[in-house]
Amino acid sequence: MSSKPKPMGPIIPISTAQALVSLVRNPLDAVPPSIFTEPMVFARTAGDVKVWIADPVLVHEALVKNADALGKGDQVRRALGPALGEGLLTADGSHWKWQRQSVASAFRPASLQELQPMMIAAAEHARDRLLQQSPGVVDIGHEMMRTTFDIIVQTMMSGGHGIDVGRVERSITDYLDPSGWTFALGVIGAPDWMPYPGRRRALAAVKFLRSSLARVIAERRRGGEERNDLISMLLAAKDPETERTMTDDEMVDNLMTFITAGHETTALGLAWTFDLLSRHPEIEQKVLKEIASVSSGRQIASDHIPMLTYTRQVFSEAMRLYPPASIITRTALRDFRLGEFLIPTGAVMFVPIYALHRHSLIWQDPEVFDPQRFSTEATKERHRFAYIPFGAGPRVCIGSGFALMEAVAVLAVILQTVSLTSVAEQPPKPLMKVTLRPKKSLMMKVRAR
Ligand code: HEM
Repeated sequence: MSSKPKPMGPIIPISTAQALVSLVRNPLDAVPPSIFTEPMVFARTAGDVKVWIADPVLVHEALVKNADALGKGDQVRRALGPALGEGLLTADGSHWKWQRQSVASAFRPASLQELQPMMIAAAEHARDRLLQQSPGVVDIGHEMMRTTFDIIVQTMMSGGHGIDVGRVERSITDYLDPSGWTFALGVIGAPDWMPYPGRRRALAAVKFLRSSLARVIAERRRGGEERNDLISMLLAAKDPETERTMTDDEMVDNLMTFITAGHETTALGLAWTFDLLSRHPEIEQKVLKEIASVSSGRQIASDHIPMLTYTRQVFSEAMRLYPPASIITRTALRDFRLGEFLIPTGAVMFVPIYALHRHSLIWQDPEVFDPQRFSTEATKERHRFAYIPFGAGPRVCIGSGFALMEAVAVLAVILQTVSLTSVAEQPPKPLMKVTLRPKKSLMMKVRAR
C-alpha cells in the first residue's frame, strides 16, 4: 500500500444536540449505527471529526502497529482522571511504561496460579451467601460486585486492611453514574470545573475512595508484617530512568486503578453470563455437565479451572455480546496512516468493541448467544482482532488472565450447587457508564440445586 493516503471522509454529520442527549443518557446510543456494518466511519460532532473503527485489520494497524502514535487523550482524562490520576490505565508515555513494568510480574501465569485458591475461596463465600438467600430473589450484579471485590482485595492487597466494601461499591457507582455528562461536556469543550448533575456526589465518592486507600498505604509504609502483594510491588517500584520511587499519590492512583478496573469489569461479565445462561437452558446443561465431569462431583479445586474449557467459552461469548469495557478511546499524537486514510494529529479515534463484536461482516447471526464460536477451531478461523474484550496492543488489559481465571472459578463454584433464573422476561438493555451495565438490575431467582 504505497499510494498517498487520502484525507478523512466521507463524513457523517451528527447534530451536536443529538450527540449530547445520547451521551448523557447512554453513550452507547452515540455510536454511529453504520459502524455495525462498515469497517470505518468518520462522524462530525460539534465541529470535530471523530474516527470510528470496527475492522480487525484496522484495529491491528491502529492499536498495535501505530500504538506509539496514540495517547489516551482528553476523553479518558476527563472521565477517569479525577479518580485514577495518572495510574497505569490513564497515564501515557514513559510514566505509563515504568508503572506497567513495575507490576507486570504479578500477572505472569506462575503468579496467577498461586492466586487460584483465594479466588475459589471467595467464590465459595459468594455461593454460601446465595444459598442463604434461597429460595428468594437476588440482584446478581450486586452479588458479583461483592465477589470480585473480595477477590481483588484478597489477592492484590492482602485482605484490604478493613476497607468498607459496601461503601466502596456505592462510591464507585456514584462516581460512574454521571460519566455521560463528562463525555458530553468534553465534546463541547467545556472546562473541567463546569457543574453537572451528580458531580458533587461523584467528587465526594472519589474523596472517600482515595482517602481509604491512602490510609492503607500509610499503614504499609509504617512497616509491620512482610507481605508479597501489589502494594509491596508498588512500594518497591523504581523508575529505571530517574531512579525515583512512587509518591503516595501515585500509589493511590494505582491502587484505585486496580481496585476499580480489576473488579467492576469481571463482575459485569459474570452477571451478564448468569443472565444469558438462564435464558439458554440447553447451554447451561452443557456447562453443568462439564463441571460435573471435570470435578467428579467434588468441590472445585485449582487444577479443575484450566480443564473447564466450555465454561470459559460461555464467558467469552457473554463478553462478545456484552463487552464490559465497550469502547476504547484514543487521540492521535502525530499524523499516521490508517488503511487508505491519513489520520491527523489531534484526531479522536474510537474502537467500539461493542460494535466490532456484533459486526455484520465478521459474525454470523451476531445477536445469537452461541459459545461454539469460541471452540479452538472456530477461533482459529477468525482474525485475532475480531474479538478484543481486553483491548489490543501494548495497552491491552494487564489483568486478562486474572479475569478469565476468576470468572471460570466463580461460574463453576456457583453453578455446581446454585440455580439462578432471570426474573425479567426480556434481557435488560445495556447502559454504558464507562463500563457496560444492565439498564435495570439483573434480578434472579435463587434456589439450591
Ligand atoms: C472481564 C474483565 C475485564 C475486562 C473486560 C477488561 C478490559 C480492559 C480493556 C478493554 C482494557 C484496555 C483499555 C484501553 O485500551 O484503553 C483494560 C486495561 C486495563 N485493565 Fe482490564 N479488564 C478486565 C479485568 C481486569 C482485571 C481483573 C484487572 C486487574 C487485576 C484489570 C486491570 C487493568 C489495567 C491496570 C488496565 C490498564 C493497562 C495499561 O494501560 O497498561 N482489568 N482492561
